[in-house]
Amino acid sequence: MTTSKTYTVNFPVPAHIAMIMDGNGRWARERGLERAAGHVEGVNTVRRVTEAASQLGIKYLTLYAFSTENWNRPREEVNILMHLIVTAIERETPDLIKNNVRLSVIGDYSRVPADTMTRLNQCVADTAHCTGLNLILAISYSSRWEIVEASRRLAVLAVEGKITPESIDADILEKQLATTGIPDPDILIRTGGDMRVSNFLLWQIAYTELFVTQTYWPDFDGDQLVDIIKQFNTRQRRFGLTGEQAEALNNTSSRPSS
Ligand code: FPP
Repeated sequence: MTTSKTYTVNFPVPAHIAMIMDGNGRWARERGLERAAGHVEGVNTVRRVTEAASQLGIKYLTLYAFSTENWNRPREEVNILMHLIVTAIERETPDLIKNNVRLSVIGDYSRVPADTMTRLNQCVADTAHCTGLNLILAISYSSRWEIVEASRRLAVLAVEGKITPESIDADILEKQLATTGIPDPDILIRTGGDMRVSNFLLWQIAYTELFVTQTYWPDFDGDQLVDIIKQFNTRQRRFGLTGEQAEALNNTSSRPSS
């Protein structure tokens, strides 16, 4: 992470921001370039946004780098994306460590080439001691995969007699998700203008505040992140309660878990 601008703010920042990094292809096409050029530029945005999030004191940043459905893209684009992701992470790992950023990966590893997985795991291990920003990369990830996996694990536990079907509740299911232990996102940002959530953190975003920006991912930056946080701070999160109840809860700084 090379420093270009320093981000410090005098207002509260959320604990967890999740991002759908969309618009790389359109960014490239509008410039008469191959789609891959958009992905290459998108890596620079990952660096800028990670740096800004770290400086702002955000604890968790989850980036949707490669979805389960992205495996269906043309073979060449899949290979380019996998190569870009793993080489960028390896290149950035020394700076991640310098900036106290801890990397983790969530997704269906069974579909990721073994060599790529070994290299990613090495970067995860190298940053395991870091205590600042948690950078979570969703790679070969989809929510439906994650929820199916969680259901399978619960079924195994039930068959083994370790839990009863009646004991299964939201908390027990949550413990089987790839994101267990990570607070639900406060903010979900999608770049590129499309109004959908594309199989990303469907369970976790039940009460997340959504922001869609027209900006293509390669053009997104820390200033836009700060603007979104400012807008977020003006929203009242009610978690299904009345405005008055939410206000009262806010004052006692506790809230229901779902
Ligand atoms: C969506 O744009 C973007 C992706 C499928 C890949 C995002 C990946 C990166 C930015 C690289 C990540 C690198 C690291 C180190 C995490 P799109 O291709 O769907 O764009 P379009 O909607 O304009 O076609």
